[in-house]
Amino acid sequence: MSKYIHLRRNGVSLLIDAGSTAGALPRIVHYGADLGETPTLENVRPHNENAKWGARLDEPVEPCILPGIEAGYFGVPALEPAHAGHWSLDGVSETSRSVTFRLKAILPRGDVLGLEVEYRLASQGVLASQVRVVSGDADVSNRLRRVASLCLPLSSETIDLVTLGGDWAREFSIARQTLPSGCFTLESRRGRPGHDRYPAVFLGARHFDEMHGEVYAVTLGWSGSHRITVERLREGRVVVQASELLSDDETLGAQYQAPWCYAAFSAQGLNGVLQKLHAFAREELIPPAVAAKPRPVHYNTWEAVYFKHDLETLKGLADRAAGVGAERFVLDDGWFKGRNNDRSSLGDWVVDSTKYPHGLTPLIEHVCKRGLEFGLWVEPEMINPDSDLARAHPDWIRRDGAGLVLQRHQAVLDMGNAEVRAFLLKALDTLLARNDIRYLKWDMNRDVTGGGHHAYVAGVYALIDDLRARHPSVEIETCASGGGRCDYGMLTRSERVWVSDSNDALDRFDIQRNANLLLPPEISGVHVGPQRCHITGRTLGLDLRAHVAMFGHMGLELDLRELGAKESERLGAHIANYKRFRSLIHAGRYWRIEPPDPDHKAVGVSNEAGTEALVLLVRVGSHALGQGSILRIPGLDERAAFSVGAVLPVSRGVEHSLALSLRSGNYLQTGRVLSAVGLELFLPRPETSLLLHIKLQ
Ligand code: DGJ
Repeated sequence: MSKYIHLRRNGVSLLIDAGSTAGALPRIVHYGADLGETPTLENVRPHNENAKWGARLDEPVEPCILPGIEAGYFGVPALEPAHAGHWSLDGVSETSRSVTFRLKAILPRGDVLGLEVEYRLASQGVLASQVRVVSGDADVSNRLRRVASLCLPLSSETIDLVTLGGDWAREFSIARQTLPSGCFTLESRRGRPGHDRYPAVFLGARHFDEMHGEVYAVTLGWSGSHRITVERLREGRVVVQASELLSDDETLGAQYQAPWCYAAFSAQGLNGVLQKLHAFAREELIPPAVAAKPRPVHYNTWEAVYFKHDLETLKGLADRAAGVGAERFVLDDGWFKGRNNDRSSLGDWVVDSTKYPHGLTPLIEHVCKRGLEFGLWVEPEMINPDSDLARAHPDWIRRDGAGLVLQRHQAVLDMGNAEVRAFLLKALDTLLARNDIRYLKWDMNRDVTGGGHHAYVAGVYALIDDLRARHPSVEIETCASGGGRCDYGMLTRSERVWVSDSNDALDRFDIQRNANLLLPPEISGVHVGPQRCHITGRTLGLDLRAHVAMFGHMGLELDLRELGAKESERLGAHIANYKRFRSLIHAGRYWRIEPPDPDHKAVGVSNEAGTEALVLLVRVGSHALGQGSILRIPGLDERAAFSVGAVLPVSRGVEHSLALSLRSGNYLQTGRVLSAVGLELFLPRPETSLLLHIKLQ
């Protein structure tokens, strides 16, 4: 066994001291900047091993790959219960891209636990890690409470911490803080990640920003309860850990595989790290259908009709949707037996015969004739007490202690029960077999109260996997009242994420931009909503709404009957732009761009070669109403010359304030000047936007 294991890819090194020294457990010495071909491994950032200081062990203990199973580690243990002192390293297997350690840990009461800890360094330099229980005494699984999927030591320079939280309709708000003393904990106990605690942390040197500074991202690929801790050890190092959080009534089981956890590193700020995560998600996580097929423009019925389904109205909406260029028609909530509001019918997955006396076929045929694919909303995990299913199988409903805690008038099915899953599989299978449905919007509109969270999520995964195996060409969108469940575990099972219920373009611009720290734009669903947002009540123009929707997987979610001919035509022009640019937006490098003033925000996408870019500038505020902003455009080949032009249509006020050369697409500039000096632009009104296309001259 070699003493050091060094994996290198895409400018990133993972260096592990494999513990050949007697008495030492393997430990991660370094994950981050590339160390080069032949580093003197022993001397990588030597620790002050001999530093003597008061009130310390004579030999302070560095975090190993599963800290807490060795004596003298005082940080958060990677196993619960952890025990100090008895362990052995039984073997190591290596490939050029991965390493797996086999360990035995002897827990309190003498339980012997066999574990495998695997690290893979993917081509993008993203680290994937998993811990598996491979053997154990009979009782050990009953006592094991938590296994960290990854325990990553970072340098003492790690100071700033960014997390993503918020609420329904305001997901992915950024919270930035200096690492507190003690231990920072991000936990979800909702049986899903929730709108408020996305399972990821971004960590880095002080003041890292979009373009600069060393940044680490760590995210857990698990769609249930989780715990991420970040702590500074007294000796200086920072340790980040991520685990699934079990409910109090659960045990891990002898075959437990902790969820995969992912880490990324970049010295180029948040953009560097998000671009690596996007590349990784594209190549390793997201189902291949996404790359194989341009993301079709959606028309979703929810905000147009809610529960009021009427065949002729829906056909008319499909006609209008086709007219403006939509490519997929998604029939949202309200189509199944007795579903006239949110108080009843979840569980009864048969078509409502009053609304659809001849089934869904007449609508589907109509939609398909107009050249659109048909998609359907479902919420399989849930049940209304007022439903045939609840009356027939009250025992399938998860109970919370003595009673039933409802959310949106609904309860949760016992997804750990194979009988329940078989019923749901059959119901969904029947729907898909009988109807030409190409797409399912899979919703989940409540938290999972009570215990059994692991069994719940494992059951959901099993059901989706079984359904996908039977219908491999049906795409699935994951939704949980918007973005309540769109972690990297769900990404392996979904072609689209409904990022938020808010169609307010100003809020949505932030929500998308922050969600895209982890989610690539092609799977991030974003819709052009009605002029007056149903959630915030804010009235916003069509150009802004369409521009914001273009930078993801574009859709429409408004009553198209409200649009006049001119507005429909303008919407059609924006959709045509999306189609023109979607291959760039959906495969390129995504950039968070920070204009220097608080009134403006921007995002951009450039292609791999740096020969083309699309940038969206939004004026959000009016602190300095008479002033414009500076837009620096990253990602371009610095030596090349480019032409820059506004993408039409442009809002009237914006057009008047635009240099003639930009209006006509004749503004010529080098990549170097565009990125270092930028463009000076003036959008005279808040809540307006400008889309710029930059191409090789
Ligand atoms: C919540 C989703 O986020 C909405 O888009 C819509 O599908 C409703 N559920 C339907 O009940």
